[in-house]
Amino acid sequence: MKELDKEVKVKVKRFSEEKGTWWQEYTVKVDKYTQMTEVLKRIKEEQDPTLSYRASCHMAVCGSCGMRINGAPRLACRTIALEEVDRTGSDTIVVEPMDGYPVLKDLVVDLTDFYNRMYKVKPRLHPSEDVLKGKSEHRLKPEDQSRLWKFAQCIWCGLCVSSCPAVRIDVEFLGPAAHAKGYRFLSDPRDTSFEERAKVLIDSAWRCTYCYMCYEVCPRDIEPVEAIKLTRTYTTKFGPTGDASSFGERHSKAVEESIAETGMLQGGKVYVKTYGLVNSLISMIELMKDGKATKLIMERQKKVRGIDELRKLLGEKQ
Ligand code: SF4
Ligand code: SF4
Ligand code: FES
Repeated sequence: MKELDKEVKVKVKRFSEEKGTWWQEYTVKVDKYTQMTEVLKRIKEEQDPTLSYRASCHMAVCGSCGMRINGAPRLACRTIALEEVDRTGSDTIVVEPMDGYPVLKDLVVDLTDFYNRMYKVKPRLHPSEDVLKGKSEHRLKPEDQSRLWKFAQCIWCGLCVSSCPAVRIDVEFLGPAAHAKGYRFLSDPRDTSFEERAKVLIDSAWRCTYCYMCYEVCPRDIEPVEAIKLTRTYTTKFGPTGDASSFGERHSKAVEESIAETGMLQGGKVYVKTYGLVNSLISMIELMKDGKATKLIMERQKKVRGIDELRKLLGEKQ
């Protein structure tokens, strides 16, 4: 063994249709450069040819090696085995398939649902007829390019979607990766399908819960939630395209008005302005049944912190 080599244990969550789920442990020699894709390759080539996983580029480009490593959604090729050992203080590295997708075998998941969401946003540029026929050229200004660059770097790894709570409960939400890709074309001045894209993207954007998990896990620092925020800003110009965007737009206006008028966030008033009187009364009756209404009424309204700066900003916006 070379001086710097170290033995690590790798505990893999395995699955096959015939045998179901089980855990299997392997011991692998690694050095300070060994990526987790290399660890899995050594296991497959030297110990267990039945282990299944995906990997291709080994350099964070192809997007195929997404999995859970020590509980976190990661690209295996961007994860150094010994750094995991240092980070966790344990010489056992736990490897599982990505959450949120059906498992086909061991670490290989079915990404059909992920691809279908991506295709819904038509992830390619739709240039004008003239450009297609070579009659004109549509150049991208440097400032537009730097604005769009980040969102164009998606490698379709699926890690953000596997961490997104909204995708799991809302079939109409396109998910973070599709929004990053969608915004990249929605706001590209060379694209000719703004309306078609806006119809698909605006309502879905209001279904995000702003939990920021996609921001945390993306290996390319794409920040899909930023694309979602920017897509929401099109609601005023284009108009709501469904229930989520109608409620969402009314809610943000109501919050803005409440803070501007009173310096406080008046929850009841905001609720009524968002959902209408009848729906609000129904909700209040439900809350009374659960004994939560009194707490809500008794809660003292507090002035929003930094209200003077906020008022200034709201004034500037008008
Ligand atoms: S911020 Fe939105 S898109 Fe991102 S993980 Fe949370 S709910 Fe999903
Ligand atoms: S946005 Fe990031 S995490 Fe999501 S699929 Fe693209 S590269 Fe992967
Ligand atoms: S192997 Fe290609 S991204 Fe990891």
